[in-house]
Amino acid sequence: MDAFVIQGGARLRGRVRVNGSKNACLPLMAAALMTDDPVVLTDVPDLRDTRNMASLLESLGCGVQFDGEHHRATLRVKDEGQSLAHYDIVRTMRASVCVLGPLLAKRGVAKVSMPGGCNIGDRPVDLHMRGLRLLGAKIRLEEGYMVAEAPAGGRLHGARVFLGGPYGSTVLGTCNVMSAAALADGTTVIESAACEPEVADLAKMLNAMGANITGAGTPRMTIEGVKNLHSVEHQVIADRIEAGTYIMAAAITNGDVVLDNCPIDALTALIDRLAQVGLEIQPADEDAKSVASDDMRQSIRVGSYRRLNPVHVVTQPHPGFPTDLQAQIMALLCLADGNSLITDKIFPDRFMHVPELSRMGASLIRNGPSVMVSGVRELIGAPVMASDLRASAGLVLAGLVARGTTTVNRVYHIDRGYEKMEVQLQQLGATIQRVEGSA
Ligand code: EPZ
Repeated sequence: MDAFVIQGGARLRGRVRVNGSKNACLPLMAAALMTDDPVVLTDVPDLRDTRNMASLLESLGCGVQFDGEHHRATLRVKDEGQSLAHYDIVRTMRASVCVLGPLLAKRGVAKVSMPGGCNIGDRPVDLHMRGLRLLGAKIRLEEGYMVAEAPAGGRLHGARVFLGGPYGSTVLGTCNVMSAAALADGTTVIESAACEPEVADLAKMLNAMGANITGAGTPRMTIEGVKNLHSVEHQVIADRIEAGTYIMAAAITNGDVVLDNCPIDALTALIDRLAQVGLEIQPADEDAKSVASDDMRQSIRVGSYRRLNPVHVVTQPHPGFPTDLQAQIMALLCLADGNSLITDKIFPDRFMHVPELSRMGASLIRNGPSVMVSGVRELIGAPVMASDLRASAGLVLAGLVARGTTTVNRVYHIDRGYEKMEVQLQQLGATIQRVEGSA
């Protein structure tokens, strides 16, 4: 298994382009199951997860031509005979569950392995099933699979669906119910819909395919079902989590970095917290704002001062602070002048990075869903073990600034969600190499 070996201390400088969003792309790819026509996606990141999704779709009779170099995928259903999402794929990528709504909507049947828990905690799918049942689906559990069927005639029907759960709404659950409702008979209203930009991007693509969805990006969405969807070419939104990670890489190394294709409109909570920390985020060029009128594709310049102020961070559903940036901001706050408090309200057990950061000299005290971070003068390089995608990203950030050598083992987690992270960081002047790891 590969590892990253990082010599800490280089100040990052230069320019880097943010890739298309992994978490937008996976449900967009799954939506190709909803039409017989080709679906063309551009800005598709070349990742383990997008490759896994391509394999899953192939197994469901959807041809996928993926040009990783040009970030372009063409997907077209050839055979609707196979509607089984096997455990072997679902267990490697929990997001496989987002084929459930599209399969049910178009084919009237789906058999999808129940995803298990994962390194970031307990991850039920009760809200997905509740929503789809309200649209008329019969869903039973059989040997670890959700076996779902539309009513006689094969079409679901519109309904009022509430998707709030104990930790807020559900992103992929909203994608599943929205996709299913797009081809149902009648009107569906989703209350407490997830407001994440990835949900809005899926709605945008479905509308371009002929669906009738309003309110995406707000807690109430209305979907008027249509009979068919048709072909589309769609550019995937930029990855707000990759952007946030590189912003914090610049911050932690006291660097000066320009990020192109940066979705600042989706990063308000991060920018608010980082302003408190003392980071400067400006349009990259004097007139960049007028050149790039799209706030989801801006060029920004990140500069930082040596002194970092402590802040309190609470993760929440969008537009709150994203749980997917919690590990990264923790790495940054390890070096702030004082005590910060970080609380994860989405995944209260998502703290696998805490003991690893402690091995690098961080001062962290965890109490339930919160971690008190007492700033230290420096972090010290060490061999560390990545346990999930974002935890690994947090450890890489720590390694960039730590004294000496940090080896981040098991970077296959990073390869799930960051395209060639080491190359992006090398481009900015970091001393980071991919090597064959020992763990
Ligand atoms: C998406 O997962 C993302 N994955 C996650 O990113 C992200 O952390 C998460 O949303 C929250 O923002 C993809 O988009 C592929 P949820 P998802 O359903 O949709 C609870 C990454 O690192 N819940 O919104 O699976 C759940 O336990 C990944 O890129 C229920 O109670 O997350 C959690 O506490 C990791 N019942 C909260 O809701 C349900 O049926 C939010 O989960 C579903 C979820």
